[in-house]
Amino acid sequence: MTKNNIEPVRLMANENPFGPSPKALAAINEQSQNVHCYPDWVPQTLKEKLAAKNQVPLKNIMVSAGSYELINLISRFLVNRDEEILTFDNTFIAYSLSAKRNGRKCVIAHMSGPDCNLENLISLCTNKTRVIFFANPNNPTGTIVTHDSLRNLLETVPDNVLVVVDEAYCEYVTDESYPDSRQLQKDFSNLIILRTFSKIYGLAGLRIGYGIASEKLVKILAKNQILRSINLLGEKAAEAALDDVEYINHSASHNSKERAYLFNELKQLGFVVNESQANFQYLPFPDNEQKNNVYETLDKDGLKVCDLEIFGHEKSLRITIGQSETNQRIIDCLSRI
Ligand SMILES: Cc1ncc(COP(=O)(O)O)c(C=O)c1O
Repeated sequence: MTKNNIEPVRLMANENPFGPSPKALAAINEQSQNVHCYPDWVPQTLKEKLAAKNQVPLKNIMVSAGSYELINLISRFLVNRDEEILTFDNTFIAYSLSAKRNGRKCVIAHMSGPDCNLENLISLCTNKTRVIFFANPNNPTGTIVTHDSLRNLLETVPDNVLVVVDEAYCEYVTDESYPDSRQLQKDFSNLIILRTFSKIYGLAGLRIGYGIASEKLVKILAKNQILRSINLLGEKAAEAALDDVEYINHSASHNSKERAYLFNELKQLGFVVNESQANFQYLPFPDNEQKNNVYETLDKDGLKVCDLEIFGHEKSLRITIGQSETNQRIIDCLSRI
C-alpha cells in the first residue's frame, strides 16, 4: 500500500496485467507436487508444441531460461573476442549489457527518434561485426521495423553477420507491415528470432523463452547452455499457456483497445507520444524536470511506471498498458498536472 492507502500497480516491466493464464496456473498447481523431481534434460513436449505453433522444424527450436539466457549465450558463444556486437542506443539494455559482461565490444548506433533505423546499422557494419541485436517492437519506444526493412537488412549484410530480432512483444502487434520473421528465417540462416513467455503469456517469474534459428546455430547454443537451466514449472506452465488461446486473444485485444485510449488521451493532454505496437507507451520529455514531475505525480497515486534513467536514457518514461481502470487512473492523475 502507498501512504494514501492506494494499492500500487506495477507498470514498469511490461508484464501481463491479467496475471498468468488460468490454464498455466492449473498446470503450476498440478506440477507443484513434483518439484522434488528434476525436469527432463530436454523440454521435448514444449519444443514440439513450439515447432507446431510456429510451423518450423523441431531442429530449429531452442528453449531457454527466458530471452536473457539466449542473449547471453549468443553474445558469449557466437561472438569471438576480436569481433563486435552492433545495436541501438535506445533499445533493450540487455544486448549491450551482455556484450559488456562477456567482454565483447559493442558498437552503438544512435537513434535520432523513436524508430530503429536499420540503414544506420548497415552503415556501421564492418568486417568485425558478428551479431546485430534489436527488438521488434522496440523496447522502450514501441515502434516496429517492417518486413521490407528487415528483408533489406538481411539481403545487405554478409551471411556471417547474425541478425537477432527480439520479438518479445510480437503478440501485441496489429500493424500489417510487421515482419513474418519465421518465413524470413527459412530464407536467411543468419536470422535468429527470440520469443518469450514473460510478456503476453504472463510467466515472467518462471523464466522461460525460446529462439528460432538454423539447426547449426541451435546446436552451438544448446551445447553451451547450462544443463537443466529450464525449470519444471516454467516448462509445464509454458505448455499450458500455449493452449490458452482465449486468454492470449483477450490479452491482445484488450491491449490494442487500451493502447489507442492511452495514446489519444495522452496526446490530448499535450504529451509527445508516438504510436506503440507493444504493451507499453513511451513518453519522452523536453527535460528531466518535467519527466520527474510526471513520474512523482503518478508514483504518489501508486502508479509505478518505469523511469528510463535506470537504463541510461534520460528524459523519458515508459508506461505499461494496464487494465482499463488503471489506464483511466493514469489519465485522471495526469490531467491534474
Ligand atoms: C525486448 C525484450 N526482450 C526480452 C525481455 C526479457 O525477456 P525474458 O523475461 O524472456 O528474459 C524484455 C523484458 O523486458 C524485453 O523488453
